[in-house]
Amino acid sequence: QSPVTQTAATHVARSPDAQVVTSVRHYTDSLFSFRVTRPQSLRFRSGEFVMIGLMGDNGKPLLRAYSIASPNWDEELEFYSIKVQDGPLTSKLQHIQPGDHLILRPKPVGTLVHDALIPGKRLWLFSTGTGFAPFASLLRDPETFEKFEQVIVTHTCRDVAELTYGRELVESVKTDEMLRELIGEENLDKLVYYPTTTREESPKMGRITHLIENGELFADLGVPALDPETDRAMVCGSLAFNLDIKALLEKAGLREGANSDPAEFVIEKAFVG
Ligand code: A2P
Repeated sequence: QSPVTQTAATHVARSPDAQVVTSVRHYTDSLFSFRVTRPQSLRFRSGEFVMIGLMGDNGKPLLRAYSIASPNWDEELEFYSIKVQDGPLTSKLQHIQPGDHLILRPKPVGTLVHDALIPGKRLWLFSTGTGFAPFASLLRDPETFEKFEQVIVTHTCRDVAELTYGRELVESVKTDEMLRELIGEENLDKLVYYPTTTREESPKMGRITHLIENGELFADLGVPALDPETDRAMVCGSLAFNLDIKALLEKAGLREGANSDPAEFVIEKAFVG
């Protein structure tokens, strides 16, 4: 018996926005991913988010913004979530199992999209924690590789185990036959993965902001420092992280863009509770 209570589940199943959970995978005590059926009418741009959730105890939908982690060509939708033991939604959502229903409002929005960036040579995807989710979508979208000569994704977590979802995603782009073909063999070398941890020993340690400031990031990768002529960036993580990266990008001369006014970088807060 799934702790998503029977009555709540029944209420969700009757909702016009109900979708069925098809698979769930747990990574750590605090991280999991799941896939759900995709409404036939739902079109989205890789990097966008939707509202998803469950029925609250009061009989009203309890919804939060979740980045779609799957690419726009996928027939299902994938999400990557934190588990917070006293979080109103994730304390329940972490118990979902295949066959359960959840609510998904089919109105995708967001700024971590190609349309909000002007053309450039190098695309940086800077993430912490579950902020990797929108990039899991963008990294499986051929457009990301058609538009840039190099795509560098950085992911910073406290512990090594928290890097698993992102590491496997990047590996799948490089090794999965279907993804390789879709993205194009000639494009695979464009993808560079730069994982770091801050609290557990790993080959590369440190906050990415620190590694930008001291130049280690660029030295490690053998690329020039951030330049508004060539570099574009998407940022997704905690509020504090986003603010610190934004300051560094602006210091380097990059300007924040939006759907209505594309520029050199875009930023969005990862859902945290
Ligand atoms: P740290 O361990 O030094 O706080 P969280 O789980 O708190 O969201 O953090 C996820 C990762 O993001 C951690 O590795 C954390 O490093 C890092 N981080 C948190 N805040 C910032 C920030 N303001 N700038 C850069 N990295 C940050």
